[in-house]
Amino acid sequence: MILWRDELSVGFEAIDDDHRELVDIINRFEQDIGVAAARRTAQELNRFALHHFTREEAIQQACGYPAREYHRQQHAELMRQLERVSGALDEQARSDAGHGVPDMVSLVRRWILHHILQSDTLLKPYVAPHASLAEDRPAFVRVSTHRTIFYADVSVLIIDDVQFQRMIITRMLRSLGFTDVREAADGAAGLDSCVRSWPDLIICDIGMSPINGLAFLRMLQAEEKRQGAHPAPVVYLTGHNDSASVIEAKKLGAAGYLIKPVKITDLVRRIDSALVRFTSTHSGA
Ligand SMILES: [Fe+2]
Repeated sequence: MILWRDELSVGFEAIDDDHRELVDIINRFEQDIGVAAARRTAQELNRFALHHFTREEAIQQACGYPAREYHRQQHAELMRQLERVSGALDEQARSDAGHGVPDMVSLVRRWILHHILQSDTLLKPYVAPHASLAEDRPAFVRVSTHRTIFYADVSVLIIDDVQFQRMIITRMLRSLGFTDVREAADGAAGLDSCVRSWPDLIICDIGMSPINGLAFLRMLQAEEKRQGAHPAPVVYLTGHNDSASVIEAKKLGAAGYLIKPVKITDLVRRIDSALVRFTSTHSGA
């Protein structure tokens, strides 16, 4: 039986929750009596491991973890081993033999524990900036000597086709004190969300399809004009090698851009300057 302990924590809720679930399944595996029960648990373990590995790899990508290709190969190897265990259990069920089950359970336990302790914990420094709460920062920006904008009063829309990217930005914003944070998965859904309720600030990925971030801004600007809405600053999310889009975004009047993986210090700096600039430009405060 594996007991969850701090040593196993990667320090990122979504990954730690998955690892707890993996540990639970392995513990159940250990308690299974007979080949039939072990087969069911092995199948559950395969399904969950695949789901978790996919999720963890997406988080690694969003956090800019440099060794993710090597890590992906380890996951693929673990999946092959788990499939072999399932195959061996199927074989045992056919031949009515159950003697090898305890050995397989201890193998699986060793693989998973070894992977979490030796490989997953290497993620800690990369996921930490995305997991830590920014409790010591002021939850406001001073726009002028007379005007302060509290983050809790600012509604934010995040548009990105990668769910984990949205999740990471949402977590950062909430830790900074933003409470009204919405998400949309592409430009069309983003525009829909804007028209339903105009946000005060938009954080938008550039590379999305079918409507990319630049096309979204053009459509947004046309809609704002048509409805006489206050223009919302748009801060773009982009990769290192997309300078052409950044130049285009600036021409369109974007409030700034952030290079992925996004650091919370850059995020708050960019948001503050966007709020200051758009408030003074558009409301004369
Ligand atoms: Fe992993």
